[in-house]
Amino acid sequence: IRAVVYTSEAAADIAASRLGQTGGRLCAIVDDAARFNRDAGVTGVLLFDGARFVQYMEGPDDGLQVAYSRVLGASSHSG
Ligand SMILES: Cc1cc2nc3c(=O)[nH]c(=O)nc-3n(C[C@H](O)[C@H](O)[C@H](O)COP(=O)(O)O)c2cc1C
Repeated sequence: IRAVVYTSEAAADIAASRLGQTGGRLCAIVDDAARFNRDAGVTGVLLFDGARFVQYMEGPDDGLQVAYSRVLGASSHSG
């Protein structure tokens, strides 16, 4: 089991959207991420304060690498 933790800044349209808004962009990201993580054996926690993310992820090396590369490639946040 490996783990990674990072912080990032939400893109402007995410930051402007309401927290927990059903059907919103943030919900779609979380659903997509949770589905992928389940298949990859990855778990963790995602925190959002309306402007910044903190995510802790853990899982087997191969699954975590793919999940984290998806995080790095997402345009919904930066930094
Ligand atoms: C804050 C944040 C956390 C994410 N966490 C995960 C994750 O845990 N696992 C994963 O496979 N993808 C994760 N993603 C990627 C999303 O599931 C999705 O593929 C991506 O946001 C879609 O691309 P876009 O942001 O460019 O629209 C994350 C994306 C963001 C913005």
